[in-house]
Amino acid sequence: MNSALDTLWMPFTPNRQFKASPRLLASAEGVVYRTPEGREVLDGISGLWCVGAGHRHPRIAAAMKAQIDTLDFASNFQVGHAGAFELAERIAALAPPGMDRVFLTNSGSEAVDTAMKIALAHARACGQGQRHVFIGRERAFHGVGFGGVSVGGMTNNRRVFGTAMLRADHLRATWDPATQAFVRGQPAQGAEMADELERLVALHDASNIAAVVVEPVAGSTGVLVPPRGYLQRLREICDRHGLLLIFDEVITGFGRMGAMFAAQALGVVPDMIVFAKTVSNGAAPLGGVIVRRELHDAMMSGPPHLAELMHGYTCSGHPLACAAALAMLDVLQDEALPQRVAALAPQFEDIVHGLAGTPGVVSVRNLGLAAGIELAPDAGGAGQRGARAQAAAFDRGVLTRAPGDTLILAPPFVSSVADMQRMADALRQAILDTATGT
Ligand SMILES: Cc1ncc(COP(=O)(O)O)c(C=O)c1O
Repeated sequence: MNSALDTLWMPFTPNRQFKASPRLLASAEGVVYRTPEGREVLDGISGLWCVGAGHRHPRIAAAMKAQIDTLDFASNFQVGHAGAFELAERIAALAPPGMDRVFLTNSGSEAVDTAMKIALAHARACGQGQRHVFIGRERAFHGVGFGGVSVGGMTNNRRVFGTAMLRADHLRATWDPATQAFVRGQPAQGAEMADELERLVALHDASNIAAVVVEPVAGSTGVLVPPRGYLQRLREICDRHGLLLIFDEVITGFGRMGAMFAAQALGVVPDMIVFAKTVSNGAAPLGGVIVRRELHDAMMSGPPHLAELMHGYTCSGHPLACAAALAMLDVLQDEALPQRVAALAPQFEDIVHGLAGTPGVVSVRNLGLAAGIELAPDAGGAGQRGARAQAAAFDRGVLTRAPGDTLILAPPFVSSVADMQRMADALRQAILDTATGT
């Protein structure tokens, strides 16, 4: 092992393998990373689903530089600073009507756990403290906090942490390989998969359920696109039984689906929206929860000298993160990036489905600027081919990710059609490399 790399215990990384064969990034601009040797690597995953506006956007960089020279840190516990208030107002103005209260965190995981705590605290404030079952979905990723792991459905993330879980039950994933393998966009059939929620409600009783938590489009598990009408049906069932619906929009929020939120792109309004990642273009850690006004207002009770929600993080609404996000919101709006995504999406769809005939590709799924290209697993077991293809893609000049055997393509919103084609071409080569074992 290279001793210079040994000390850092890297997250979600096979450390021994990485350190034997490191893939390092040294700088970035627009849609391109550079390695320490100066080699170009196209950013096919927007950093980690964050960098919609492209790397080192000058307006975001300028805003952060100005902020660090003005106010480096101020807590939002019992004091406040203008940036956090302004950011909350700006985000609320972009959200569906009625969703206009915003709690800030530093990450998506914290935001998921915050939304779950709000659901529990809201139930209690309404005299329904028995509501403590959460309904999630198989193959969902909701971050790595204990709340998110409980309601999440990615087996590898849950296996060894089971004993500290909240009570949760899970809908089936919306993925059906028999009917969806090469469907473009949302599958036409399958809305009835949402009816499973009725079964879980019957099992647990609606009066015990705190919330239903889903990603509108499951991202990290390999881009699983909900059938048409599925989310609408979930909403209807929640309404019928008086259940809160939480959309985890950590990946889909702030443009990736061709609207500011997937709630708008797909026409279903939840009770809370969880966000992170693209809100600050990845330039500073930031996440949060957008909450329907009535939920918030129902909790503005109790003794006025006590915090209504005993929850928060030292860096909730950090000035530097708020400055980055405020500049990012300007960029999203002034450069019409969600509209750009909507315009690029059909060409992106053609490009990624152009990989369908490549030997070893068993499925291509896409929505907005997100796609999953699934490979047949190799004899070594699930996930090994994906890992080799991810490494091969890096060598071929494109950064991707491979949950299991699915390669993800999620380009920055500022990518050109030619950039996206180059990304797909490199993936094709990487897929062929792994087929021949090179
Ligand atoms: C849908 C979803 N929720 C939550 C998270 C966790 O976010 P973070 O890594 O910022 O904690 C992620 C991260 O990829 C995500 O995709």
